Amino acid sequence: MSKPTKSHGRISITASARPRELMTDTPDLAQAWKARVITLFPEVFPGVLGASLTGKALQEGLWQLETVDLRPFGQGRHRNVDDTPAGGGAGMVLRPDVVGAALDRAAEGVRGDWPVIYLSPRGKPFDQAMAQRFARADGITLLCGRFEGVDERVIEKYGIEEVSLGDFVMTGGEIAAQALIDASVRLIPRVLGNQASTEEESFSDGLLEHPQFTRPAVWDGREIPEVLLSGHHAKITAWRRSMAERLTKERRPDLWRAYCEKHDRDPDEDAEQSGRANLRGTNREQT
Ligand SMILES: C[S@@+](CC[C@H](N)C(=O)[O-])C[C@H]1O[C@@H](n2cnc3c(N)ncnc32)[C@H](O)[C@@H]1O
Repeated sequence: MSKPTKSHGRISITASARPRELMTDTPDLAQAWKARVITLFPEVFPGVLGASLTGKALQEGLWQLETVDLRPFGQGRHRNVDDTPAGGGAGMVLRPDVVGAALDRAAEGVRGDWPVIYLSPRGKPFDQAMAQRFARADGITLLCGRFEGVDERVIEKYGIEEVSLGDFVMTGGEIAAQALIDASVRLIPRVLGNQASTEEESFSDGLLEHPQFTRPAVWDGREIPEVLLSGHHAKITAWRRSMAERLTKERRPDLWRAYCEKHDRDPDEDAEQSGRANLRGTNREQT
């Protein structure tokens, strides 16, 4: 991966092995994609984002991460951020005046296309198309909920988009925020060494990815499919596409139907009967 040049906007940030230092007092990099996270637990960031390729990209200024601590916006001596639900019921709700003040702080200096997102199990399920949209934006603000969530009026007032990580309930939005940022950051040019890998991986063309293999050629009596060792690029491409179609059809009928519609294909067509390869890569029926 090439290093950012001076024109990239970096002033001076020293490399650090300690992830948290990746976020402290870094100068504002004009061109860098930014994530601002409103949270009661700023200490859990960058978390996993400080590791591996996202951590390296953070260090190199390809993107920036800032947290806005919700606690200082709290009310009274104890800086209370929540209150009981109107109408009764279990749990607590994050107050709109507290969250609103944090959102105002997070809006300072935002530029261009900058979605504001509330991580919420009620939201639209997060997917690769969303990650691509967020990666193309100038930055994003993520609001992490806690307790029973945030007062509805704040979502309305700020035109916040609700995004869900899936049909399950976590205790807070921080893990969801890190997942969303990870999936978006890796699509920013130069973050991954090999940009082609994002073009071929699962969901990039509406299909799940084909199976992957590496050395040794035989492991535990199991061989790598012949075709992958043939050096015949056209056959390898055809086999991978066929496997991607088969896996998608078996595991994700919803994606398969959408793919067939887009490519004017019959969703009930049998990939193997139509002459495509099997897992062994031999074009023979599997035994
Ligand atoms: C305990 S949950 C609140 C659940 C809420 N009462 C409900 O039933 O929809 C607390 C916070 O965790 C986050 N959260 C939980 N599950 C999530 C999911 N599947 N996707 C995104 N965020 C989630 C949200 O920020 C939420 O405000």
